[in-house]
Amino acid sequence: QVRWLNVHEHVSYSLLKEAGIGVPRFAVARTKGEAAKIAKELNTKDLVLKAQVLAGGRGKGAFKNGLKGGVRMVYTPEEAEEVAGKMLNEFLVTKQTGEKGRICNAVMVTERKFPRKEFYFAVMMERAFAGPVLIASSQGGVNIEEVAAENPDAIMYEPIDITTGIKKEQALKVATKVGMASQKDATADMLMRMYDLFIKRDALLIEINPYAEDSNETYFVLDCKMRFDDNAAFRQKELFALRDWSQEDDKEVAAAKFDLNYIALDGNIGCMVNGAGLAMATMDIIKLHGGEPANFLDVGGGATAQAVKEAFKIITSDTRVHAILVNIFGGIMRCDVIAEGIIAAAKELNLKIPIVCRLQGTNVDDAKVLIASSGLKILPVDNLDEAARLAVKLSNIVSLARSAKLDVNFEM
Ligand SMILES: Nc1ncnc2c1ncn2[C@@H]1O[C@H](COP(=O)(O)OP(=O)(O)O)[C@@H](O)[C@H]1O
Ligand SMILES: [Mg+2]
Repeated sequence: QVRWLNVHEHVSYSLLKEAGIGVPRFAVARTKGEAAKIAKELNTKDLVLKAQVLAGGRGKGAFKNGLKGGVRMVYTPEEAEEVAGKMLNEFLVTKQTGEKGRICNAVMVTERKFPRKEFYFAVMMERAFAGPVLIASSQGGVNIEEVAAENPDAIMYEPIDITTGIKKEQALKVATKVGMASQKDATADMLMRMYDLFIKRDALLIEINPYAEDSNETYFVLDCKMRFDDNAAFRQKELFALRDWSQEDDKEVAAAKFDLNYIALDGNIGCMVNGAGLAMATMDIIKLHGGEPANFLDVGGGATAQAVKEAFKIITSDTRVHAILVNIFGGIMRCDVIAEGIIAAAKELNLKIPIVCRLQGTNVDDAKVLIASSGLKILPVDNLDEAARLAVKLSNIVSLARSAKLDVNFEM
C-alpha cells in the first residue's frame, strides 16, 4: 500500500526557504500565547493566521466551534492570541476533510502580503510523461482543476528528463510563457531551485499556488503543498519523522502499524482477504451478487494471528459493517493461523455480526476443526460464489434489522 507523505505548510515553507525560494516571514505556534509572541516579533500590523491542517480549502473551511476560516487576517498580537486560541485543538472542516474535519494542533503566524499578481507552478511525477513535469500557469491563486476545466490552454506542461535534469532554457521558456518575461532570469532560477528540491527530497509533488508578486516586485510563495515518495523513506528519515499521524484516518493508522493494507469504501460488507488480486476479485463477486464492500483489507502474505485480530478490530470498528466475508487462500499464509486470529477476535470483540469464512489451501483442514470447535458463529463456506452470496444476504438481513431497530441473533 502507498501512504505518500504529506507535510504541513510550515514544513513546506521551511524547505522552500532552505532552497532559497522566497516565503513570507513565519513561525509556528502551538499555544495561543506563542501566537501572540510570534505576532509581536513579526512586528507588523498585517498578520495572517493559518491553521496547520493537512487539507486544501482551509481558507473557505470552518471550525466545528463556529469560527469561520482556517486562514484568518488579524491586526494585533492580542487578536492573534484570541483567534489562534479558537483554532488550536479544534477541528477544521474543509471540502477535503469530510464532515469529521481534522484537528488543528498548530497555527502558522505569518506576515500578510498584498499580492498583485498570482501564478501557479508545480513539479510533479506524472505517469503520462513517464517522469517529472513542470506545470505552470499565469492563473494562480485559484483551484488549478478549475483552470484546467475552463481554460486548459492557460496551463503549460514542460516534461523534464530525469537523467539530465532541468535545463536553463526550459526554465526560461516556462517563465516567459507565463508572462514573466521581465523577470525571466529570477523566475527561471526559482524554478530550477524548485526542481532541485524536488529531486533532492524524493518528492512526488511540489505545488506552489500562488507564487505571487507584490507592488515592490518581490516574489514569494503563499501556499505550498508537498508530497513525498514512501519508497524513499529510508533516505529521507528526517522528513518522514515529520509525518503527522493526527491528520490521517484512524483506521488507516491502525492498519499501518500492523502492515495491513486497508482502504475504506462505502458499503456494508467487511472483507478480509490476502493479496490485492484476491481482494479485487472478492469485491467484484460481492458486487455481482448485489452487495457493496465496506472496505478493502488485505492482510498480506505473512500475517500473524495477532495481525488478523487487528484486521478484525479495524473492520468491525466501522459501524456500517453488517457482515464480514473472509476469503483467504492459504499459500504462504496458513489457514489455521487465520482461523486462530478470527476466533481470538470474535471472542474478544464479542462480535454480533455474521462472519462468512471461506478458506482454501495450506492447513485448511486444521482451520476447519478450529472453527468448528470454537463454538462461535462463523459460517464456513468452501465455494467462493456461495460465500459471497451468503455474505450479501446476511448483510441485507442485518441492515434491515438495524433500520427497524431490531436485535438479530444468528443461531446455527
Ligand atoms: N500570507 C498571506 N498574505 C496574504 N494573503 C494570504 C496569505 N496566506 C494566504 N493568503 C490568502 O488566503 C488564501 C487561502 O490561503 P491558502 O494558504 O491558499 O490556504 P487554502 O488553499 O488551504 O485555503 C490564499 O489563496 C491567499 O489569497
Ligand atoms: Mg491555497
